[in-house]
Amino acid sequence: MSDEADAGGSQQTWTVLDLLRWTAQHFESRGIETARLDAELLLAHALGTSRLRLYLDFEKPVLEEERARFRELVRHRASERVPVSQLLGEKEFWSLNLKVSSDVLTPRPDSETLVSAALDRLPDPDGAYRVLDIGTGSGAIALAIAHERPKAMMTATDISTAALQIAGVNADQLQLSDRIRFLEGSLFEPVRGEEFDLVVSNPPYLARSEAGELPPELDHEPEEALFGGEDGFALLRPLVGAVVAHLVDGGGFAVELSPGQEDSVAQWCMEAGLVEIETLRDLARQPRVVAARRGARGPQRHLED
Ligand SMILES: C[S@@+](CC[C@H](N)C(=O)[O-])C[C@H]1O[C@@H](n2cnc3c(N)ncnc32)[C@H](O)[C@@H]1O
Repeated sequence: MSDEADAGGSQQTWTVLDLLRWTAQHFESRGIETARLDAELLLAHALGTSRLRLYLDFEKPVLEEERARFRELVRHRASERVPVSQLLGEKEFWSLNLKVSSDVLTPRPDSETLVSAALDRLPDPDGAYRVLDIGTGSGAIALAIAHERPKAMMTATDISTAALQIAGVNADQLQLSDRIRFLEGSLFEPVRGEEFDLVVSNPPYLARSEAGELPPELDHEPEEALFGGEDGFALLRPLVGAVVAHLVDGGGFAVELSPGQEDSVAQWCMEAGLVEIETLRDLARQPRVVAARRGARGPQRHLED
């Protein structure tokens, strides 16, 4: 068998294990790093079952109509490099099942570092905190925080109407809609004059100058979710510059970034008057988040106010 049209396409009997082996090999030959995992996720989806169930059903023959569904998924994954999350229409993040599509960035495991940083800055599990998530996309960060802090009131913003629609569906599905307000607009524009106990953001921070080196899967995600201008700082810089005005005294700030951007962002935090500035690393030990806090307003600032 040589091309994907044959993935379970011939007259022979195909078992679950046959299909997994063939497809994993096929994905590998196309340079897909998570070949076996992707094969399992797509086959489980085509069969309407779970990955665990596949392991119990290795020897079970797969029906032609199920194989036809699977072939379509394999083709999209291998030829067009559509991300598995978009083929499944969902992604697990912080143990929450989230709807995703090509209108939103698929939440990444790296962003769980941002959620942890946020929760560390909201220490009381019953605190009625006011939290702002800028560039909410699928709602991943805001919903994870809302899930962990059942009295927190969330505000989640984005410039993308389509993303906010998906975030709204996710909030409904997780029964968190009553504690999350979605607002459309750029950066702090939709929350003019408001202050929060915590501001978090995973803004677009990739450098457009490096677009050619990125994996082909990113072509299926929205440009405005990925790129922060030529150098990646187009949103990070104004975000850090404006955050102080939206934090209560002692309020927290945590922002995700690419490794290599942390020193500039930490420097801008310092220039903005933030304190307790630290860089946090993701599971791969890469710098991933800069977090800080607004100090108490001194007399000087009151005079300025
Ligand atoms: C990297 S994605 C993060 C999505 C989600 N928070 C997550 O962590 O999975 C960045 C998001 O910021 C939004 N965005 C881009 N420019 C923005 C702006 N100027 N103001 C607010 N949101 C913006 C994009 O539409 C996208 O949803």
